[in-house]
Amino acid sequence: MSISFKDRVAIVTGAGGGLGRSYALELARRGAKVVVNDLGGARDGTGHSDAALKVVEEIEAAGGEAMSNGASVTEYEQMAEMAAKAKEKWGGVHILINNAGVLRDKSFAKMEPADFEFVVKVHLFGSAYATKACWEIMREQAYGRVLMTTSSSGLFGNFGQANYGAAKLGIAGLAKTLYLEGAKYNIRVNSLAPLAATRMTEDIIPEAASATFAPENVVPAALFLVSEDAPNNVIVGAGAGGYHSAWVTMNTPAILPEGERTVEGFAAHWDRISRREGDFVPQSGMEQTQRVLAEIQKAAAGG
Ligand code: NAI
Repeated sequence: MSISFKDRVAIVTGAGGGLGRSYALELARRGAKVVVNDLGGARDGTGHSDAALKVVEEIEAAGGEAMSNGASVTEYEQMAEMAAKAKEKWGGVHILINNAGVLRDKSFAKMEPADFEFVVKVHLFGSAYATKACWEIMREQAYGRVLMTTSSSGLFGNFGQANYGAAKLGIAGLAKTLYLEGAKYNIRVNSLAPLAATRMTEDIIPEAASATFAPENVVPAALFLVSEDAPNNVIVGAGAGGYHSAWVTMNTPAILPEGERTVEGFAAHWDRISRREGDFVPQSGMEQTQRVLAEIQKAAAGG
């Protein structure tokens, strides 16, 4: 079964290079009309260039349809203008891949507050602003596929990336509420943690391994997650031909007897409270609460 994006309008932020460029090329090859957004700055977010325009030229040379956009995801008004232009030219916005990103790595002890703020602004606020700019359009047309770019650094932690990790887990959190709010309008929201040799990883992935870590190996996961039959509320990891899912889970709640609901009682039951048992994936915060209440009722009934 081939997966087509014919007549779909897609916006890919930060698509002037790296992973975003690969997503944009493949979406266009499969029939989507693509807005190639990129500020064209350096890895740390400084400067500008016409990176987006070059990708549009590549798409057009291959027979596809695209428009370039040099706006910054950190400016909501610019994002709103970008979405409006796409709608005006092509009639809607069906797909948004929030991919733009920057790095300002330093151990937390040495990190300037401004570098924390900037990285969170680009990744987390940028993803929220671009999504907000498309949200009403997607609601009106009762169709939307939004992909958030999270990271192993956000999901699991990484030395030297407190700013980046905080933003990336924030983005996954954003997805978890937007999927609930979008469900009624056929808007699905997923998160992808990629791994690829790009300028972002040039310090950690050696040149010799760059073919193994080609961005093209991440493209299948990204495109499936914005396709018509995409799942909803999933977190997927992709890179070098390896693909997996990740979850936010909880164990079976321990219900402490009334007299043991003390600091000492909690300490005494810590082994049980922290044991990975009865793994459960709540689909919302409400479901987590219900899971705890169900266990309380069971305990009260003598179960
Ligand atoms: P990249 O540096 O090649 O791509 C990021 C793009 O975002 C650049 O073209 C940059 O100009 C653009 N950008 C930066 N600030 C922008 C702004 N304010 N507005 C619009 N565009 C802006 O790096 P790569 O690796 O392709 O990264 C893509 C995404 O994947 C990022 O969100 C990154 O954090 C994420 N990621 C990448 C991993 C990897 O292994 N390469 C690992 C985990 C996450």
